[in-house]
Amino acid sequence: MTTLAILTAAGSGTRLGRDLPKALVELHGFPLVLHAARRLAASGAVDSIVVTAPDGLVGVMADLMAGDPHVGIPVRVTDGGPTRQASVAAGLALARSEDDVVLVHDAARPLVPPELVQRVVSAVRSGHGAVVPGLPVTDTVKQVRPDGDAELVTGTPDRSMLRAVQTPQGFARALLVRAHHTGAERAAAEHLAATDDAGLVEALGEPVHIVPGDAAAFKITTERDLWLASLVLQETTA
Ligand code: C5P
Repeated sequence: MTTLAILTAAGSGTRLGRDLPKALVELHGFPLVLHAARRLAASGAVDSIVVTAPDGLVGVMADLMAGDPHVGIPVRVTDGGPTRQASVAAGLALARSEDDVVLVHDAARPLVPPELVQRVVSAVRSGHGAVVPGLPVTDTVKQVRPDGDAELVTGTPDRSMLRAVQTPQGFARALLVRAHHTGAERAAAEHLAATDDAGLVEALGEPVHIVPGDAAAFKITTERDLWLASLVLQETTA
């Protein structure tokens, strides 16, 4: 039995302010999506990868992956969809019957440690149907609702019971397929779509377990995040 990783890379990433999709923005000379693919492969826990590409860029992504000596496992590339949820569904459609475990990882988290990938796959293989890496929340978090030109605080959840979740998220393939099938009508519109795959499993009423995340798997959203990632790489390769 094998593990497939769906690497979501079809977003526009407009908050980075480049005229390039975020996954193709370079960090130390290599696109974010390639850093992420290399780390998935380096885990030794992933057998193949499906990358979801932005409109018109399937060929560019495929050439990038094929030309890289460090990925070393089979990579297929498919068109993404209008939302992250739709992109994952497009990748999932390419899963093979032998892929009993499916990971979903965001190219926007290029520095994911291979050990974290191993941890998630091990937890799924040990019998958990849905596994998400999570970190304790250090900020106090407020729940709000709109109130005129400001927002009104409606609650303060107990911080000790909150986790900030990351990717890769790992699933028994049959469960992930069922979750995406049941939630399919949400996939077309950004305001309805699930922002992570575990959310679709939760909507089924099935359990989702947390394993310890890793600060290095942080998500690149802004120029500052890119700068931080560059510092992290400098430190780890020095
Ligand atoms: O925009 P955000 O950073 O939340 O996107 C998370 C991940 O989902 C990114 O790696 C992005 O490329 C991917 N994505 C996608 N298809 C979309 C939107 C986002 O594959 N339609």
